[in-house]
Amino acid sequence: MKSPIRSKSLLPAVVSSAMALFLISADAVAEQCVLRIEANDQIEYSESELVVGSECTEVRLTLEHVGDLAVAQMGHNWVLTRTEDWKDVATASQEATVETEYLPPDDPRVITNTKIIGGGEVATVEFEVDQLDEGGDYTYFCSFPGHWVRMNGELIVE
Ligand code: CO
Repeated sequence: MKSPIRSKSLLPAVVSSAMALFLISADAVAEQCVLRIEANDQIEYSESELVVGSECTEVRLTLEHVGDLAVAQMGHNWVLTRTEDWKDVATASQEATVETEYLPPDDPRVITNTKIIGGGEVATVEFEVDQLDEGGDYTYFCSFPGHWVRMNGELIVE
């Protein structure tokens, strides 16, 4: 026969151990990886390839504009798309304005992007890795008008 006192006292213990297990496993699984890339006044990125290791569940990417020119003359951002989409998105970006970060507004082909910055500025974006396919084909680029031709690279998801 069940005692009401016993089940009352058991419940908090069960809940708290379940929560502890959740916190431990979430902590063990979550791994934020840090990526960094520079852009300069010569319309160049410092990296033609970035790698997201298999241990990463989240990426924090930092773009640093190491040049001197203002955003209106030499704006840079970091935009991620599937490689099959990147030229179409880059072309569509040529019609966009600075108000939409030189990106087609609300375009689902844009997986993630930093804001657009000028010389001496830094932009950071965080994104979840589970929206990317392991071994998938991804390209990053700068969507400032004309820059995508020179400023692009491959994101490798291990
Ligand atoms: Co640029």
